[in-house]
Amino acid sequence: MVDFCQNMKEKIKILSAEIENFAISNLQELENFRIKFIGTKGSIKELFNDLKSVPNEEKKEIGQLMNGLRMLAEDKYNQFKSNLEEANNKAELIDFSRPGEDFSVGSHHPISLVRAEIIAIFNRIGYTVSEGPEIEDDWHNFSALNFPPEHPARDMQDTFFIEKGENEMALRTHTSSVQVRVMENQQPPIRTISPGRVYRNEAISARAHCFFHQVEGLYIDKNVSFADLKQTLLHFAQEMFGEKAQIRLRPSYFPFTEPSAEVDVSCSICNSKGCNVCKYTGWLEILGCGMVDPNVLEAAGIDSKVYTGFAFGMGIERITQLKYKVNDLRLYSENDIRFLKQFTSVL
Ligand code: PHE
Repeated sequence: MVDFCQNMKEKIKILSAEIENFAISNLQELENFRIKFIGTKGSIKELFNDLKSVPNEEKKEIGQLMNGLRMLAEDKYNQFKSNLEEANNKAELIDFSRPGEDFSVGSHHPISLVRAEIIAIFNRIGYTVSEGPEIEDDWHNFSALNFPPEHPARDMQDTFFIEKGENEMALRTHTSSVQVRVMENQQPPIRTISPGRVYRNEAISARAHCFFHQVEGLYIDKNVSFADLKQTLLHFAQEMFGEKAQIRLRPSYFPFTEPSAEVDVSCSICNSKGCNVCKYTGWLEILGCGMVDPNVLEAAGIDSKVYTGFAFGMGIERITQLKYKVNDLRLYSENDIRFLKQFTSVL
């Protein structure tokens, strides 16, 4: 009998090791585990049948060991069952046959689109792009550009001053300031455009804003003439508004150019027949230009007896307005998604 009991204990030990080592990684293996150990024909049931033959004085001890064994198997079974079921439920949540969800692509801001288009047009005829600071000193924004000290554009009404007095700093009112920096650092030939944001102290309305964007151009070399300027601008207008676009120049004044002109383009909205956008004139004003004043060349260290050049400047908002027929400047900075979503072209 001692042997029989010893044998039982031995079997219990072996079985508990088997139970612990039994690998379960799916529902089939879990079921195999159940049949092997817990099921009505499983090894634990079998062992319980042998308990009848154990003498009474040993029954308590062996009975406890057997209960421990059964609990070990049942705990393992329950644990794996709930783990596997949970994993299974999760897997069911993923429906691989479902069509993919749409994702929406954002759109470029119309100012960015037109800015890129203007840059591309001038890049093709050899212009580089130059950039400079938005906070400028008096020299680069005004003095080097031949603004007399008392010129009204320096007045508080137009310029946002950051610091007055000796170290006067202001938000640039045009990107001509960048061109001064280019001329100071580079000898001709110079062929560059400077796109960027500019600031003017104006009341915000449909037709004016306290900030907007410009592209200014500069071309300096030997023998650059007004005819070159005209031809360059005609080329630009035709690239931007179509082959049939015409330009006309009206005399104007800027401190940094002489002679100076304002340029109109034929109204592409009504084909120059007259509409409310061109105010029934058939023409739309798009930019200012002129031959660089010799004083400006000299101030930047360029010999005005050897070199001549032309400059021009345009507002990107204005070109965008004509291209996309946007009639209120405020729309560009209000971030109304319904407005922005209409511009789906890709750069
Ligand atoms: N800087 C001028 C402006 O901001 C535009 C301009 C540039 C005019 C170059 C003539 C030549 O209005």
